[in-house]
Amino acid sequence: MVAIFLLVFVFVSTKCSATLTQANHEEADNLRDTLDSNETMVCDVNGTSVDCSFRGLQYIPENLPGNLTSLNLRANNIKYIKGTSFQRYQALAKLSLSDNSLEIIGLTDFEYVSSLTMLDLSLNKIVYDNINNNAFQNLSKLYYLDLKQRDDVTESTTYPRALEDLDALEYLMVDGFDNYLPHLPNLKELYFSSQYGRCNIPHLRRDIFKNLFNTNITGIYLSKCNIVNVDEGVFENFPRLESLDVSWNENLTFGPMCNITFGLKNYFKRLNTNNIYQYFKASECTVIWKEHVVNLMNTSLEVWTLEGNHIIKVDPNAIYQVPLSLKYISVQDNMLMVGDYSDIIVEHQLLKHVIYYDTSKLFGSHLLPSNHFGKINYSQAPKYTIPHNVLFTRSQIKTYFQVIDERLQKFNITSDKSNKSSSSNQTVTEYLDLSECLSDTYKVMFELFTVEGLRYLNMSKTYLGYTLLDNGTMFERFVSLTTLDISSNGILQLKEHIFDTLHKLERLYIGNNKLSNISFDISPLTNLKYLDLHSNRLETLNMKTMESLSNLKNVTVNIGGNVLRCDCHKQNLKFLVWIATTNVVFEDFEHTLCYFINESSIPIGDLNIESFKLECEPPAYSVLTLVTSFCILIFLMIIGGGLLHRYRWNLRYLYYMTKFKMVGGYQRLDDVEYDKDIFVSYANDDTEFVRNEVIPKLEESGHFSLLVHARDFQAGEFVADNIVRAVTSTRVTLAILTRAYVESKWCMYEMNMASLEGINTNRNVLCVIMKDNIPPKNLPIELIEVLKSKTYIEYPESEEQQEQFWERLITTLK
Ligand SMILES: *[C@@H]1O[C@H](CO)[C@@H](O)[C@H](O)[C@H]1NC(C)=O
Ligand SMILES: *[C@@H]1O[C@H](CO)[C@@H](O)[C@H](O)[C@H]1NC(C)=O
Ligand SMILES: *[C@@H]1O[C@H](CO)[C@@H](O)[C@H](O)[C@H]1NC(C)=O
Ligand SMILES: *[C@@H]1O[C@H](CO)[C@@H](O)[C@H](O)[C@H]1NC(C)=O
Ligand SMILES: *[C@@H]1O[C@H](CO)[C@@H](O)[C@H](O)[C@H]1NC(C)=O
Ligand SMILES: *[C@@H]1O[C@H](CO)[C@@H](O)[C@H](O)[C@H]1NC(C)=O
Ligand SMILES: *[C@@H]1O[C@H](CO)[C@@H](O)[C@H](O)[C@H]1NC(C)=O
Ligand SMILES: *[C@@H]1O[C@H](CO)[C@@H](O)[C@H](O)[C@H]1NC(C)=O
Ligand SMILES: *[C@@H]1O[C@H](CO)[C@@H](O)[C@H](O)[C@H]1NC(C)=O
Ligand SMILES: *[C@@H]1O[C@H](CO)[C@@H](O)[C@H](O)[C@H]1NC(C)=O
Ligand SMILES: *[C@@H]1O[C@H](CO)[C@@H](O)[C@H](O)[C@H]1NC(C)=O
Ligand SMILES: *[C@@H]1O[C@H](CO)[C@@H](O)[C@H](O)[C@H]1NC(C)=O
Repeated sequence: MVAIFLLVFVFVSTKCSATLTQANHEEADNLRDTLDSNETMVCDVNGTSVDCSFRGLQYIPENLPGNLTSLNLRANNIKYIKGTSFQRYQALAKLSLSDNSLEIIGLTDFEYVSSLTMLDLSLNKIVYDNINNNAFQNLSKLYYLDLKQRDDVTESTTYPRALEDLDALEYLMVDGFDNYLPHLPNLKELYFSSQYGRCNIPHLRRDIFKNLFNTNITGIYLSKCNIVNVDEGVFENFPRLESLDVSWNENLTFGPMCNITFGLKNYFKRLNTNNIYQYFKASECTVIWKEHVVNLMNTSLEVWTLEGNHIIKVDPNAIYQVPLSLKYISVQDNMLMVGDYSDIIVEHQLLKHVIYYDTSKLFGSHLLPSNHFGKINYSQAPKYTIPHNVLFTRSQIKTYFQVIDERLQKFNITSDKSNKSSSSNQTVTEYLDLSECLSDTYKVMFELFTVEGLRYLNMSKTYLGYTLLDNGTMFERFVSLTTLDISSNGILQLKEHIFDTLHKLERLYIGNNKLSNISFDISPLTNLKYLDLHSNRLETLNMKTMESLSNLKNVTVNIGGNVLRCDCHKQNLKFLVWIATTNVVFEDFEHTLCYFINESSIPIGDLNIESFKLECEPPAYSVLTLVTSFCILIFLMIIGGGLLHRYRWNLRYLYYMTKFKMVGGYQRLDDVEYDKDIFVSYANDDTEFVRNEVIPKLEESGHFSLLVHARDFQAGEFVADNIVRAVTSTRVTLAILTRAYVESKWCMYEMNMASLEGINTNRNVLCVIMKDNIPPKNLPIELIEVLKSKTYIEYPESEEQQEQFWERLITTLK
């Protein structure tokens, strides 16, 4: 029963959820429809500009504000324009439909947007024959039109008749093919180049431009158009032509150059002839001959680029044909060699007005083909790499002249400047690029140019390392330099005074070398704003460099990619402290690593310098202290030991005197009240002598009372105590000095005590009889001292003299 109920429930609930899902689908479809027509939700509205790019739209939205002036529909999926699509947007001036799926343009598509000034229809699938002949008839204000199409669509064979209505058109981007363009009276720039879109004109015939003759066209861009042959004077009927770009036509060569340049007028300023040879066909060697340049003679050519053309030399006769108005030359990536023509260039002052000379990458083409791929920059010709929020495709793709203009602007190289100095003979070259050349190239170049005026010098990758190792005057004459690049040269060391004359230098690039220390002085560079030291082998900076950098007002330094040390070496600690405290700005600081002793590393900015300093100092401190205090202790012990040894008798004496006083059992007696007169101090070996001679002579004949230790010492007392008591309680201590005496510990003790008692009580206590004749070198040092201050009496050998001796002794002791 329960089972059946469950079954029913399951069936019902499945059915319900099925209908629910269906309903959801319908709802979602509706929602999508409303979303599709609720474009204000979809597009970004900013004032009267609406951005609907990258929204996946299939139709042109119709609910946008009616007063919009700019509409970006780039990168959607729009297939056609409804006749009424733009009816609401009569104020529309800028419209981009680039990168959609348009195939045809109908009569009424742009009927209502008569205010349109700029229109981008590029990168759709429009075959030009499918553009209605009158489609643009109401666009009387249009001055910018982009009609370049995707290259996966059928190629067109004729240009659209509709173009004829565009009287105001000034800028036209259109696919290039072998057919003639209609008349466009106000056209200024014609862009055929296939940097995006298509261009294929193997034979450039005069016909192509016949309807444009004698218009005021200023620029024609024909790069990447597969041009091989060119009719003579194809541009001769463009009196205002200024810029011509025929680069990247790999099969063009300089052969048709005289046909291309034939009839160019003196308005002509810029010629771009880069890579008009097959780059990898290195067997070709190009020479610039007279006929290649003769037609340029009467132009005012300012910019000429001849990059990547295997040029090995210039015919001397050609040099005289090149107009001296040249300001910008780039012969980058050729194989120019030194020859007679160099001198003629100087003589003819060909480079007199050149302010920008790029001769980098000479001999680059001589390398093996495998190395070429890294060098050639195909990004010059991007396909569809257009970012968001850009209304017009063309504005993303720079012409080479634009690149040059920006470069000149960046380096603030102005034509005005050169005009000013054109009256004098002084070369005004400001920018010289010698990068990636053989190291000796600079010698020729420094002669061709007056380097004193040079402001930018690029000598990176020129194998200068060994030259700079011992040439400290390399840059001496470059007094106007503001930027110097000697990066990637394998430089190991620079001479100390190499930058001394470069007072105007603002940017110095020494990155990617092999510097392990800063041997050069940067203090003369008082205007330095940027110093690049990245990717060298620096472990630290020296004090002088740190000081010089700190003295500069606003300097940025890049020391990333070095092997900076985070160790406790004194100099490194100073450097780390400096890093943490200086005003100098460090570029790429998060990648500026500092290596610990165990070769692990952290970004130097993350190092807590205070705690690191603490880590460094205690171990150093305690080890030092330990060593020092140990040394001091040893020293003190030595001194103390010495002193103890030196004064051991005095100390002992002091000890006993104090001891006797403290115990109280002892009182020093007055002179008259001594217990005995004489304490006889002798060695045991001399007991005979004492018993047979001393006692009878002194006690019996002399009537002295004697204290003799064998006879009179108190039993039970310490020997030392007995001795001191004996010395202090007798008037005189008579020492019988023999060899045995010297060797006896106790005898020496007695003698020393007596000596000290004498000094202490200021009486004549000690009397020494020298019985044996002991050579002084055998006497202990302290005994010598005692004997020095005391007179001693020698005991004679003969009996007769002995009698006299005893008499004299008795008199002395009395
Ligand atoms: C469409 O836009 C209107 C306001 O213009 C808004 O009220 C409505 O909710 C939107 N519809 C949807 C489905 O987003
Ligand atoms: C709106 O347009 C103005 C002027 O073109 C621009 O400065 C501003 O950044 C735009 N605002 C937004 C949110 O895009
Ligand atoms: C454009 O129209 C919208 C309403 O659709 C209005 O809010 C806006 O103020 C208008 N802008 C101008 C410049 O007239
Ligand atoms: C477009 O141009 C045609 C012919 O010049 C003219 O008849 C028509 O009225 C124009 N349309 C509009 C909307 O201006
Ligand atoms: C070309 O420009 C000159 C002067 O700017 C002008 O006089 C001439 O009419 C223009 N030619 C054409 C065909 O527009
Ligand atoms: C140049 O000519 C060669 C044949 O000589 C051909 O293979 C190549 O595609 C041509 N290059 C261009 C850009 O036309
Ligand atoms: C130069 O033009 C002439 C005449 O148009 C033609 O015969 C010749 O072949 C052209 N030269 C080159 C190299 O295209
Ligand atoms: C350049 O001009 C001079 C004088 O005006 C003339 O003699 C010479 O033929 C011209 N050269 C060219 C190549 O047009
Ligand atoms: C360019 O140089 C001139 C003269 O040297 C100077 O007056 C001008 O400020 C500079 N311009 C820029 C943008 O640096
Ligand atoms: C310029 O050079 C010419 C010849 O080279 C010379 O005669 C003339 O004196 C020079 N003028 C100046 C201002 O140096
Ligand atoms: C150092 O280089 C300069 C180039 O600026 C050169 O004139 C000079 O002769 C060179 N000195 C040595 C010793 O090679
Ligand atoms: C310091 O230089 C940086 C970049 O070089 C610059 O942006 C900044 O304005 C300069 N600051 C001062 C105070 O000159």
